[in-house]
Amino acid sequence: MKDIKAIVLAAGRGTRMKSDTPKVLHNIFGKPIISYVLDSLKSAGVTDIITVAGYGSEDLRKVVGTKIVIQKKLLGSGDAVSTAKKLLSGFDGAVIIICGDTPLVNSKTIEELILKHEKSGASLTLTTAKLKNPAGYGRIVRSSSGNIVKIVEDIHAKLYEEVIDEVNVGTYCFSAKDLFASLSQVLPDSQKKEFFLTDTVEILSKAGKAIGSIEVEDVNEMIGINSRKDLAEATAVLKNRILEEVMLSGVTIEDLATTTIYPDAVIGQDTIIHPNTFIGPDVKIGRDCHIGPFARLTSTVRVGAGVIIGNFVELVRTDIGDGCRVKHHTYLGDATLGKRVNIGAGTITANYDGKNKNKTLIGDNAFIGVGSVLIAPLVVGKNSTVGAGCVILKGHDVPDGKTVVGVPARILEKRVGKERRSVK
Ligand code: UD1
Ligand code: CA
Repeated sequence: MKDIKAIVLAAGRGTRMKSDTPKVLHNIFGKPIISYVLDSLKSAGVTDIITVAGYGSEDLRKVVGTKIVIQKKLLGSGDAVSTAKKLLSGFDGAVIIICGDTPLVNSKTIEELILKHEKSGASLTLTTAKLKNPAGYGRIVRSSSGNIVKIVEDIHAKLYEEVIDEVNVGTYCFSAKDLFASLSQVLPDSQKKEFFLTDTVEILSKAGKAIGSIEVEDVNEMIGINSRKDLAEATAVLKNRILEEVMLSGVTIEDLATTTIYPDAVIGQDTIIHPNTFIGPDVKIGRDCHIGPFARLTSTVRVGAGVIIGNFVELVRTDIGDGCRVKHHTYLGDATLGKRVNIGAGTITANYDGKNKNKTLIGDNAFIGVGSVLIAPLVVGKNSTVGAGCVILKGHDVPDGKTVVGVPARILEKRVGKERRSVK
């Protein structure tokens, strides 16, 4: 790939979100909208990125990790690109321009756009989509021979242009030189008094420059987030994309409607996800497991192979070894379980003492009776047994192979004579 840089347009406040948070910093599955765009650029091999910020630029700076320029007044998409001009002076490679509020844009589309642009040697390559209802978008106007001659914005579209179903997605690949040369000729729009980036298309075409295009297959890619409703729609699309990928990798999902899986989850083959299951950030699950129904795994969870995580089980920052059974009504937080541990119904790790999150370690083959409370920090040794209803106080570790019972739990020793002796 030749020298390529990107400008991400993200100066808009997003008034319709009705929020103090800048629009592009709203999250989808725990990740800001704009980070999806940046990640797609990076996976397409574009790493030199300038973000055009406006409202909330300080918050944006913390998140994006790219160069930032500030557009002081929102004078249109053309003006936004102009604010990045200084940082690109002397650059004569290609520049991708993309909106920071379109989280569903696919890295494959960006790759395809760059490839087409480089192959054709055009001044500008546009990304277009065919829409049943093109209202609201800039329409792609072509000559009788099919060449792109301009983009007409919705507010200016004549009746015969309104019916054009091919629209401007808002992702462009320009030759840097032609971009800034044409941009300097753009005049403010007659109605909105803004500088439209899309006016460069007619300027380039009139100058005899070649303009190419690619068409997106999935029109969902162009969903821009302007409202909480758009946010929910984009989340739903992304959710289904993730579920499809997970199923393609050999995992059964019984009920797509009630299952949520975060994008970074890794799930082994032949595992079955039962309904109403939530798999949050940083979760890895092995092969041949059953997860759910009504299970919640979140914030760094590791599950080995052949594990059963049953109904109303919550796992947080927890590591579960192969062959464990955690079948009913349980909370495990900051816990590490060895292999083949059985956790009885209603077991709770008390991991938070009001100040610190403390760890519970449970060794291989341990058997935890129903309704137990394990107060961390605590080690429950391998091959040990915890009787039903135990409350094990913090630091009162259970030695390997021993049995504890009662509240607070005490070690049950083998009978010596007639007396049942206990230690501790
Ligand atoms: C724009 C395109 C339209 C296209 C549509 C696709 C223009 C003139 N029109 O229209 O052809 O079909 O996107 O969604 O570009 N921005 C700034 N500063 C500004 C104005 C905008 O950074 O002063 C950013 C916005 O945050 C957004 C992008 O530029 O990311 C596009 O601006 P927007 O106002 O959403 O343009 P549309 O009217 O949607
Ligand atoms: Ca828009």
